[in-house]
Amino acid sequence: MQVNRRQLLGAGVGASALLALPACSSSGDSGSGGDKKVEVFSWWSGPGEGEGLAALIEDFKKNNPGVEFVNAAVAGGSGTQARQVLTSRLLANQPPDSYQLHAGQEAASDIKDAKLEAIDYLYDANGWRDKFPKGLTEKLTINGKIYAVPVNIHRSNLLFFNPKKLTEWGITAPGKTWSELLAQGNTLKGKGVKLLSVATTWAQMHLMENVLLGELGADKYNGLWNGQTDWNGSDVVGALDVFKQLLALSAVSTDDWQPAIDKVIAGTAAFNVMGDWAAGYLQGAKALKYKTDYDVVASPGSAGVYNFLADSFTLPKGAPHKAYAEAWLKECASKEGQDLFNPKKGSVPARLDSDKSKYTDYLAWALGEWQNTSTVVVGSLVHGVVANNAWKAEIEKAYGVFFQDKDSKKFAGAIAAAYAANK
Ligand code: GAL
Repeated sequence: MQVNRRQLLGAGVGASALLALPACSSSGDSGSGGDKKVEVFSWWSGPGEGEGLAALIEDFKKNNPGVEFVNAAVAGGSGTQARQVLTSRLLANQPPDSYQLHAGQEAASDIKDAKLEAIDYLYDANGWRDKFPKGLTEKLTINGKIYAVPVNIHRSNLLFFNPKKLTEWGITAPGKTWSELLAQGNTLKGKGVKLLSVATTWAQMHLMENVLLGELGADKYNGLWNGQTDWNGSDVVGALDVFKQLLALSAVSTDDWQPAIDKVIAGTAAFNVMGDWAAGYLQGAKALKYKTDYDVVASPGSAGVYNFLADSFTLPKGAPHKAYAEAWLKECASKEGQDLFNPKKGSVPARLDSDKSKYTDYLAWALGEWQNTSTVVVGSLVHGVVANNAWKAEIEKAYGVFFQDKDSKKFAGAIAAAYAANK
């Protein structure tokens, strides 16, 4: 079943008054250490990631004078490295005060594993219950309890390009379907240009999920994650074959996402499929102009669909500085904090009452699409929405094999088997 924008937003939204963000947290104790500090764990340290976090930290410091902020960010796009460090810390019973988490199945896995405290009391005390799309907080809820605060909405299904280079190569517009894009790839090959620049493993899988989305359509794509679409079906295997052909025409590297998209700006590759954090990076760190120096459209076959993910922050069990962790969560949930963070991060706010004037260029388009009631919302695999942690780990393992042998049928079969074992 498709989830459209209206369903994700839920009914009953509309309260406009925002409860003021307290200057300093007063609830709970500050934890066993008693230090006036908060340690926040994320993977936002690279260019285009760090700037948004820095804006949020600055506002936090203004609202919480004298509280030391320990930025425990671990570098690496999509949190691959960070989640490994986090897992060891949690196992060793050394949780940070708050950590970054994706809404959806990733959150569900952490909640089921009893890593997190329920924070309904913060939602009630601060009037947050009607400040976020209902369908979004549901993705952070288990058994009626909410476990995290969403700070943004990112879109994963985007195709970035350099319009000047496309003109130079005689391409008037990016292909609207993956077959059209493949045809452009063959033309570009003749000119010594790679079709796509694709970064390391997670970014390859990010491309893969969006090829599946574009080839299968939103309904069948959704079915991949809930058992309704047969992974062994010829349409799915066919879509994986398209992905394989795309890889063959592309510059595939072990780089992180920033150097990969740099190649598109430089003109050694024509396109990059990435989430809209890349717009934050191009516009911010690279100081490029939307539509002139870079442009972006929905990835082929996915116009009108928002393949979403939402970054959220948590209160881990045993957080050493609980009161300041709560103050951080208040910062993350606040209208002011979200409107400082998201324009830099390249995401739209999770809050429903944001100041629209802060979202310009790419983000004005993104916000319009996100708020359009006919936009169809689906969830990202790579960024934690649709597969639980155990299944996702198995998909990653199977992808490693596929990357070597390029056997689409075997890959699809392995994912199906892993679903059956981990659902
Ligand atoms: C996602 C995360 C985004 C962005 C991206 C690249 O998983 O949700 O905020 O950081 O990875 O690192």
